[in-house]
Amino acid sequence: APDIPLANVKAHLSQLQSIATANGGNRAHGRPGHLASVTYVKGLLDAAGFSTTRQSFTYNGATGYNLIADWPGGDTADTLMIGAHLDSVTAGPGINDNGSGSAADLEVALAVARTGFQPSRHLRFAWWGAEELGLRGSAYYVNSLTSAQKAAITGYLNFDMVGSPNPGYFLYDGDNSDGTGAGPGPAGSAQIEQTLADYFASIGVPTRGTDFDGRSDYGPFIAAGIPAGGIFTGAEGRKTAAQVQLWGGTASTFDPCYHASCDTTSNISDTALDRNSDAIAYAVWTLAAGGAPPT
Ligand code: PHE
Ligand code: ZN
Ligand code: ZN
Ligand code: ZN
Ligand code: CA
Repeated sequence: APDIPLANVKAHLSQLQSIATANGGNRAHGRPGHLASVTYVKGLLDAAGFSTTRQSFTYNGATGYNLIADWPGGDTADTLMIGAHLDSVTAGPGINDNGSGSAADLEVALAVARTGFQPSRHLRFAWWGAEELGLRGSAYYVNSLTSAQKAAITGYLNFDMVGSPNPGYFLYDGDNSDGTGAGPGPAGSAQIEQTLADYFASIGVPTRGTDFDGRSDYGPFIAAGIPAGGIFTGAEGRKTAAQVQLWGGTASTFDPCYHASCDTTSNISDTALDRNSDAIAYAVWTLAAGGAPPT
């Protein structure tokens, strides 16, 4: 898998920050900063050769948008999706939540195009709207699919908050190895978790599980029985003393600017954003090349 240039990911964050600043300080559902964010991402993907669709939906009396980007080629009956929410809360520009996942996914998509990657699975990237109002965009997308279209999506990778300034390295607990929470994800989720874990092991960074608690856009996918996984660096929770031993940082909140006006380009761990962007590329290259696991 290619090494994803951190500078490129950060350049996308600067653009999202500028878009928020020019549009009342946020990129929230129904606000012009969200649509401008969609237009920015779509322009880069179109120029790179993706086939993009802007899907509209209505929520709370406002129009929301999902951006769907297909990379031509691969077995469309065996589609790997990669998603991030591109909307922010109204309180701020949403650079860690979730400019970080949006920018990392965008740069991985652009790396697919740059390298001419032709995996056996079909690749489809998505930037969701209205996550902050209850996973509205991703739920609209999944509900808009026929059962045959749902069955063709054989995996979903979710990236929401991957650059927290006091980061942890949490992988969605596909195998429920900790025995807590709602249980394992759909069959195949464990393989996704293991693939991400393999990358972090290769760079000597320990990981821990985080339960599928329904707080991000994988929710509608696992509800449809689609295997899922992803990375999360922490939100309003506090890093414990044991986690400081594991990852460094401080025994304080993972993201002190969570859902706040200070979630700006200053609210990012470059180290976490760099590692996680490379981990996403590794997972996409590894999982897309091989075909979905037998279920
Ligand atoms: N989805 C939450 C938000 O956008 C953050 C979150 C991501 C929480 C992943 C838990 C796991 O505010
Ligand atoms: Zn949020
Ligand atoms: Zn989020
Ligand atoms: Zn696990
Ligand atoms: Ca668990």
